[in-house]
Amino acid sequence: MAGRIRTAVLPVAGLGTRFLPATKAIPKEMLPVVDRPLIQYAVDEALAAGIENIVLVTGRNKAAIEDHFDRSPELDRVLESRGKERELEAVSRIVPEAGRISYTRQPDALGLGHAVWCARELVGNEPFAVLLADDLVLADVPCLKQMIEAAADTGGSIVAVEDVPREHTSRYGILDVGADDGRLVEVRGLVEKPDPADAPSTLSVIGRYVLMPEIFGHLGAMDRGAGGEIQLTDSMAKMIGHSPFHGLRFSGRRFDCGSKAGFLEANIAFALARDDMRDAATKLVRTYAAGAPPAAGSA
Ligand code: UTP
Repeated sequence: MAGRIRTAVLPVAGLGTRFLPATKAIPKEMLPVVDRPLIQYAVDEALAAGIENIVLVTGRNKAAIEDHFDRSPELDRVLESRGKERELEAVSRIVPEAGRISYTRQPDALGLGHAVWCARELVGNEPFAVLLADDLVLADVPCLKQMIEAAADTGGSIVAVEDVPREHTSRYGILDVGADDGRLVEVRGLVEKPDPADAPSTLSVIGRYVLMPEIFGHLGAMDRGAGGEIQLTDSMAKMIGHSPFHGLRFSGRRFDCGSKAGFLEANIAFALARDDMRDAATKLVRTYAAGAPPAAGSA
């Protein structure tokens, strides 16, 4: 049995260079899918999985994220006076209970592993989750909830995984796979962004992790990996063989919102999945696919 997983770390200190110029002054994690910023989906997923403490690892230019999860009395007053109750409810429910969200800073964007290491004092000596907001998952049961339930049986670390085309292995962390029951996979090794020819499998790690606190000791060595960055994958690889380590083929669909095509796809998929947006989104997609843009103002 793994200990209860109470804390989730959400690293949001990256530079978001693939989304420039949009991310020059706005954090990538504040880009909206339909009408909610990416970071809000990640926080909602963590809370829905039973997480009690959210730790955001921020950096310069990320103040908008802190403001998003804080009260906005002026806005509340205006919405109230205009009788916009639905909107008031929508902005009020974003704010977590006092004390449930903490912020720490990564002074330099030295890599994902380093960002997670920055949260060590706030996590303490217990298993914890990591969610990357730019990996958005559309699922009936939140992806992290599926993982925490699986971890209750397996113990140890769990990463959410999905199959990718072999020509894309150099974009992801890839598993070397042991026993595989079709849902849970024993992790024998992990390689960050291998060339397709060298990739030990096509099972890629997505931005959802349940990790043992021992990872902080490995991260603290500050070893540089792929791209000269301190990689989370490299420290996870050092845990293999010392405690159970599994990949979970989660049920749901993941969108890589760090890439433009993935972000666009997420907007379409999330709109199609929403009762209040489905009809409009279906009409737009059909009309554009038929090669004839709808009349101006018809959406
Ligand atoms: P990415 O690899 O997508 O990097 O980070 P990035 O800087 O955000 O974006 P690009 O590649 O330049 O376009 C994955 C996650 O890790 C966080 C990012 O904020 C993102 O949530 N991260 C990455 C950090 O917090 N610190 C880092 O040093 C690197």
